[in-house]
This record gives sequence, C-alpha cells and structure tokens, in this order.
Amino acid sequence: MITLIRGGTVVTAEGELRHDVRIEGETIAAVGPDLQVPADARVIDAGGAYVMPGGIDPHTHMELPFMGTVASEDFFTGTSAAAAGGTTMCIDFVIPAPEERLLDAFHKWRGWSEKAACDYSLHVAITWWDDSVREDMGTLAREHGVNSFKHFMAYKNAIMCDDETLVNSFKTAKELGALCTLHAENGELVYVLQQEIFDKGITGPEGHPLSRPPEVEGEAANRAIRIAEVLGVPVYLVHTSCIDALEAVTRARLEGQRVFAEVLAQHLVIDDSVYRDPDWNTAAHYVMSPPFRPREHQEALWRGLAAGMLQTTATDHCCFCTPQKQAGLDDFRQIPNGTGGVEDRLSVLWHHGVRTGRLTPSEFVAITSTNTAKIFNIFPKKGALVAGADADVVIWDPDRTRTISAATHHQNIDFNIYEGMEVTGDAAITLSRGLVVWEDGQLKTVRGRGRYIDRPCFAPYWDSQRRRNARAEPTKVHRQRPVTK
Ligand code: URP
Ligand code: ZN
Ligand code: ZN
Repeated sequence: MITLIRGGTVVTAEGELRHDVRIEGETIAAVGPDLQVPADARVIDAGGAYVMPGGIDPHTHMELPFMGTVASEDFFTGTSAAAAGGTTMCIDFVIPAPEERLLDAFHKWRGWSEKAACDYSLHVAITWWDDSVREDMGTLAREHGVNSFKHFMAYKNAIMCDDETLVNSFKTAKELGALCTLHAENGELVYVLQQEIFDKGITGPEGHPLSRPPEVEGEAANRAIRIAEVLGVPVYLVHTSCIDALEAVTRARLEGQRVFAEVLAQHLVIDDSVYRDPDWNTAAHYVMSPPFRPREHQEALWRGLAAGMLQTTATDHCCFCTPQKQAGLDDFRQIPNGTGGVEDRLSVLWHHGVRTGRLTPSEFVAITSTNTAKIFNIFPKKGALVAGADADVVIWDPDRTRTISAATHHQNIDFNIYEGMEVTGDAAITLSRGLVVWEDGQLKTVRGRGRYIDRPCFAPYWDSQRRRNARAEPTKVHRQRPVTK
C-alpha cells in the first residue's frame, strides 16, 4: 500500500520545507518536492497543515500497579488516546516490586503491553539490589533492547532506591552503555515532612505540595547528578518541575557533564493553586509527584526548554479516577499519585509554546519527538521524517481550536487536569507505521498492532565525562622507602 501526503509543510527538528511524503507499507520511502505515486495510491491532502514526526512520550505508566490500586488507562486505551493527540510512541516503565526479579517483571509488563495500539518501549526501574539485579540488567540490555534504567529517589518503604543502590546501578549501567534515569525527590525528607504536616492536622490534598517543596527535588537532583559525575555515567532526570532542579541540571551541563532533563507539559502550565481548590475531589485530581509549583517555576521551565537545558517533554501519564483518589480522603499520603495527559501534550505545547513565540515549530518537533528518539537511541527509525524511518506521522492543523474536556477526551479517566482549557493546534490525522489511526475526529487504532521497540545500548564513547575522568586520573607516586635501621 502506497500513501502520499501531499502539499503540506514538512517540519522536522532541522527546519521546514514544502515537501511531499511517500509511504510504502509501514515505512517512509521518500520525502521531497512533487513526488510521483501510482494511480491507486492513497493521497492525503495536507494543504495548510504541518507534517511532523509523530510525538514520542518518554514517560507514561499504563495499567501501573501503584499505591494499592492500578492505573485506569491500559496499554490499548492509553496508546489510542495518545494517537488522538498526535503521539505515536510511548516509553513506559517496568517497575519491579522489591525483591522481584527484573526479568520476571519485564515479562509481566511485556504481556500487559501486547494490547498496545501504537509502538512502545519499556524502561526498567531498579527498586532494590542484589547480584541478580546486576545480572538481569545485563540480560535486559543485551537481549531485550532496554537501554535505560529508572531510579525512584522517593516513595520510601515502597520503590525508593537508596544511595547504595544508586551507586551499584549506575556502575552497572556504565559497563553496559545504558542510561540512568531518575525521579529526583529526597524520599527521606518527604517522609518526615508528610508526618509533620499530617500531625499538624493538615490531612487534605493541600498537604501534598507542602511535603514536597522544591528544595527536596533540588537536593535529590544535585545528589544524583554528582554521583553520576563521580562515576562517569550519563543521567536523565524525569519530570523536572522546579528552579532548584533546573539549576542543578544547568550547572552540570555548563560543566560539560552529560545530563539530560525532561519536563512535563502540565508542569509548564498548571500552578500549585489547584491544591487550594475548596472541592476535595478537584484538588485531589492534581496530586502527583513532584507537585505543581508556584508560578515563577513555570516561567523558569519555559526558559530552560528554550535554552536547551531541558530537552524533552513528557506527560507521566498515570491515571487514577476520582474513586481511586478517594482512598486518601482522610489522609493526603494515601491519595494515589499521578495525572493524565498523553492525549493533550502536543496541543498544550503548541498552544502555549509555539503560538506564544516561546518555541518555533522545529523546536516543537525536537522537544516532542526527535530529542527523545536521539537520547533513547531509536533515531532515525523514530522521531524523523526520512526515507527508511517508520511512518509515524502527524498531520497537524495549526488553526484547529478545541476545548479540552473529560467529556470529549479519549483517555480512560473521569476527569481532565486541563478541563476547560482552549487550545489552538491539533492532530488532524495520525499515522502509526503507515496506518491511519486518527482521522476526522475518529479513532481507528487496532488493539495489539503496536510493536515493542528495541533500544540498543550506547557505544563506549557515550561515557563522555572526560573532563572529570581526565582530572581524576590517579597519579602513581614512586617514593623511596625510608631506610630503617
Ligand atoms: O505522581 C506520579 N508522578 N506518579 C507516577 C509515578 C512517578 O513518580 O513517576
Ligand atoms: Zn516520578
Ligand atoms: Zn512517572
């Protein structure tokens, strides 16, 4: 089957061109001016629209078992909702329970993810340590296409990773050529602050941000980055939400350290006033970690994105419906942490990023797709519009306006954190490996058509902490032994 996308403006991370895109089967065959196709080819008229690589969300949690419940969005509904918003690939997380073999957890998640409608891959979390973890990291990296391992520095007594485990894991990842990713919050501090706040009688959702101030994130971000610097391993911070963490990233990058950082679309546009909503349910809907921050942090994050200090955008899509959130009615510590948004990321970033002049269309493609593909080593199969790449494409209507609402979204959750937000810029048509999966406001996804995408480890040159390594080269001193009589 040949498809020609004709008459649009092709936008990639490099620039914009008035080109056609020819797709043969599941793959892009050519990108260029006035492409010819056989008479029976399907022609999609993209006149007036942008043609971009499909979005890649590097941080989702479909059907995650977490905090005594299971995230309501599964791999089929979640990847379908993603497609409705122009996202054609998600990188989700395998999160083994402490003492669970990594490989067992990985195979369990592979079973769940078989229903995915669009392509996906899996990071694997390191939640505990022994020799089997080291061994399984090697097997995952060498045989299962896992090149990134996640470390939760928060969630004490559950999945938190202490410094000893961080060091062991970082060293192993370095040997493998894998990337270490981090949820940076000091879990010990969060635990103590939560208790203090609860003991003061603050039991509602407003207690959540009080127990996780920016300093808690900044400390953990800096600690992880410094451990990585000493060990000479690259790191990637997920959901950077505040000035404190951004400063740690910026300092390290300016020193030449290989540090990457992600920001969530919601942290760019929603502030902490949501926790003061008089309606308990509404406030609880926004309980996620790190929490939403005071306004000044949003402006700093936008600047960090424009300056290249933050390279990727994600959603941390982790849906819990209102009745699930109500597990914490009497105690904010029991409210399952997580918010959705996989469907809305591109529209929110286009509206608040491109239309405000903070981002160019090319920068938009870079931060929604291409940079993620490069950092996680799947470029140019993903994140690119070039011959040979997977035909994951979004035809983007920059003028289409919609009002985001739970009443009309495709996500399997009974509220939307962007409820009532009017956005201009939307996916008109989405193709996943050549198949139209979203068109005319209709989802056409196929359960189980999504493929697991292998992500090979990086070559040794990835260990680019040469500045530190050169400085730290041990000097051997030849001394004369003192003569003893
Ligand atoms: O609140 C959040 N972010 N829930 C999902 C798990 C995580 O921390 O990423
Ligand atoms: Zn997290
Ligand atoms: Zn997460």
